[in-house]
Amino acid sequence: MSPVDRNGVKIGFGCFGIPEESVYHLIREAINVGYRHFDCAALYLNEDLIGKALGKCIDEGLVSRDDLFITSKLPMNGMSPKWVKYFLEKSIKNLDCGYLDLYLIHAPFAVKYIADDQFYPVNPETGKLDADLNTDYKITWKILEQACDEGLTRTIGVSNFNENQLIDLLSSCRIKPSVLQNETHCYLQQKALRLFCHQNEISYQSFAPLGSPKTAQESGHNVLLSDPIVYQLAEKYRVTCSQILIRWQQQMNMTPIVGSDNVKQVRENIMFADLTLSPEDLSTIDGLNRDERIFYFDHIPGLTVTKLLDPVLFIHDNFDSHSQLNHSMVNHCQPLIN
Ligand SMILES: NC(=O)c1ccc[n+]([C@@H]2O[C@H](COP(=O)([O-])OP(=O)(O)OC[C@H]3O[C@@H](n4cnc5c(N)ncnc54)[C@H](OP(=O)(O)O)[C@@H]3O)[C@@H](O)[C@H]2O)c1
Repeated sequence: MSPVDRNGVKIGFGCFGIPEESVYHLIREAINVGYRHFDCAALYLNEDLIGKALGKCIDEGLVSRDDLFITSKLPMNGMSPKWVKYFLEKSIKNLDCGYLDLYLIHAPFAVKYIADDQFYPVNPETGKLDADLNTDYKITWKILEQACDEGLTRTIGVSNFNENQLIDLLSSCRIKPSVLQNETHCYLQQKALRLFCHQNEISYQSFAPLGSPKTAQESGHNVLLSDPIVYQLAEKYRVTCSQILIRWQQQMNMTPIVGSDNVKQVRENIMFADLTLSPEDLSTIDGLNRDERIFYFDHIPGLTVTKLLDPVLFIHDNFDSHSQLNHSMVNHCQPLIN
């Protein structure tokens, strides 16, 4: 079993966007029904609330720190070696957890540090994202390796990286990334990337495993939870659509990171023991893939969004072929630069 899957429970609780007033109630319920893995990030701006809620649950004797698996992520404005440990230590302090179980690089690009919560600083002269072209993720990784040695985090990994970037990182790292966390669901199955991770012993976590229904709807994408085939399978197995989607992920050896603000759904997403999708039904689900991404990061100012399958779709105008400094970024984005 991967160290990421504590107590054999192959699911993570997504902590993005939980309404402030519900944090304690939801976290407590999640722990009560068996979640141990909590997926957090500096960017979600709620680590202090999550930390208080987890701390209260520990004080109440519901769970011990050792049983929890707590993840945080290094934001893009913390990628410079000068800031990496600052952000890591700040997350540990806010989460009040002593150490992290997993620290991920949130995305494979760096922006300049202006303030802790300015994740997408805009250059006033150009009106575009103020990229930090001096910081390559491989430099960031070296500091994360030191942080691992110092016990600040048990494992380190990456998010929103593509295969080329993983190859690049693997070619120079001392400690291998233990996890890749990328958008993955039945409409975006990421088979080649998952195979690469499997071959390189990198655990695979998927965000938006239910196809992030609200974001999908708002951005005019198809809503996976309403797919007729998923519905038919749910009827056949007498479970819910979300349970079909989650079990597909687990049978495909992924750890889904599922978000919900609704106690009933928090339970529904973990409490189903006897469901194994048949090989025929797995192949039916295979057929749902359309390489359809929901998260395009197109809210970031000055990014040219290239709607290709490759997760590195952040083609910033600054990262053009004339920028030599951010080698990894430029090298691996070259085919996509327009
Ligand atoms: N690494 C990254 O860059 C990145 C990016 C995005 C997200 N993430 C992580 O992934 C987590 C999940 O992402 P996500 O929330 O976008 O995607 P998701 O888990 O696919 O979708 C969550 C949505 O599905 C609904 N939902 C949950 N359970 C349901 C159920 N049983 N039946 C019907 N609807 C259900 C929720 O609504 P209700 O709240 O009403 O239940 C919520 O709106 C985040 O919290 C975060 O931790 C990481």
